[in-house]
Amino acid sequence: MFKEIQNENNYKNLINGKWVDSQSKEIICTFSPVDGSNIACMQAMTKEEVDEAINGVKEAYPKWAAFTSTERANVLLKAADLLEESAEELAEIMVREIAKNKKSALSEVIRTVDFIRYTAEEGKRIKGETLEGDTFNGYTKNKMSFVKREPLGVVLAISPFNYPVNLSASKIAPALAAGNGVIFKPPTQGAISALHLAQIFQKAGLPDGVLNTVTGRGSVIGDYLVNHKGIDFINFTGSSKVGKHIAEMSGMIPMMMELGGKDAAIVLKDADLDDTAKAIVSGAFNYSGQRCTAVKRVLVLNEVADELVEKIKMEVKKLSVGLPENDADITPLIDLKSADFVQSLIDDALNKNATLVLGNKREGNLMYPTLLDNVTEEMLVAWEEPFGPLLPILRVESVEEAIRIANASEYGLQSAVFTKDIDSAFYIANKLEVGTVQINNKTERGPDHFPFLGVKASGMGTQGIRYSIESMTRPKAIVLNLHLQN
Ligand code: NAP
Ligand code: G3H
Repeated sequence: MFKEIQNENNYKNLINGKWVDSQSKEIICTFSPVDGSNIACMQAMTKEEVDEAINGVKEAYPKWAAFTSTERANVLLKAADLLEESAEELAEIMVREIAKNKKSALSEVIRTVDFIRYTAEEGKRIKGETLEGDTFNGYTKNKMSFVKREPLGVVLAISPFNYPVNLSASKIAPALAAGNGVIFKPPTQGAISALHLAQIFQKAGLPDGVLNTVTGRGSVIGDYLVNHKGIDFINFTGSSKVGKHIAEMSGMIPMMMELGGKDAAIVLKDADLDDTAKAIVSGAFNYSGQRCTAVKRVLVLNEVADELVEKIKMEVKKLSVGLPENDADITPLIDLKSADFVQSLIDDALNKNATLVLGNKREGNLMYPTLLDNVTEEMLVAWEEPFGPLLPILRVESVEEAIRIANASEYGLQSAVFTKDIDSAFYIANKLEVGTVQINNKTERGPDHFPFLGVKASGMGTQGIRYSIESMTRPKAIVLNLHLQN
């Protein structure tokens, strides 16, 4: 990779085309979730430097907006090529930085390459429309509105630790395709992978200042960023707690938010239980459950519960536990605090008489996959998002009870329904208060051009390539007043 981004172990920020150190001389170091070794350090930027970064984008983006959509697409396509070339190296960084296993880290990068290429093409299809006047207030065809789509201006992109490349690019690329400039605040744990991504966009030929990066702890510079007068749109992915805080702090800045989830897998009597168990285990335990769309509870009809639990147990037993570099399925969680939280949910459930089927074992922040049966609504794990390898199973009497419990959650990201009966599947899907219902598969975000959204505490606005581009543009109407004779 290109070296000017770092000074020995210290990473710089991209400001107006140059990689610079902060005047604060204050650095934040991150440590490997696997062995505690120092990964790298980054800059804690001052408020003045944040101002400079935002003002730089404000000044630079109109030039970028004036490029043709094909010229913008060519820069994005070049970025995709460079990212593809760097896939191995970036995946290695992610393995160390966020303990994602090598296979998943590589797949995250390749998925992002595809995402950027598709975005480049979709960016060429941003369309306006022409409307003819109608009979409102007696107007007739003497009026025509030319509705163009314009970029919003300066987009603040804030991404979470669990997909530092993909969930950063899925904000940056659509924003750029639409002609916006971007202030990019990466997650602190994940910043090194994310800063490399920023450098790839720079190397692809993005004009200076169109993408500037800002590092520093979200809890310290976050409030300053999210109500900064220079920001025109906030595109945030992270926890519901931080999302709500940003919404409160940011006044009238428009925003898109993708937040937490408590995705339910509802299993009916006629489901194919072998396929269902496989889908649920992959959905619940990939990247050790640290995915917003992980299956986070199973609601199974009593009649097939024993059989399903047994099949899930057999699948969970196949998961390897260990190091990300060895491609283990279950790897250390991002930090000790996260592991403590998962443990507290297990302890609470066991104290309230849940049945431990497997797991409840840990070594520091390495949590073994844990399966809890006979979970009830009194237990925290029925409602809280563990963000770890913990799957609760709630047995239900009826489809209506499953729907009630699924909808009682504060979250509304996705749900899955497993059944061979398409009428039941659609009946349940129509009743679930979520952004997406998966029929006969695990909950998941992709393919990345599908709409992806959460309701209730799971978010606002819609991601997905075309949806993301549209949400970072606004209509601009120019009205032509004609003097036609009737
Ligand atoms: P997080 O703690 O909410 O952090 C997300 C981002 O927000 C990080 O870049 C963080 O910076 C920043 N931040 C923290 N406080 C801030 C503040 N006051 N103002 C502005 N920014 C602030 O989430 P996480 O632990 O990284 O990610 C896990 C959570 O994200 C889970 O709840 C998961 O469900 C959710 N998630 C949702 C989706 C989705 O699409 N729905 C996708 C992925 C993850 P620092 O790192 O510097 O603290
Ligand atoms: O963590 C949240 C991500 O948006 C989930 O994406 O379903 O592809 O793992 P994924």
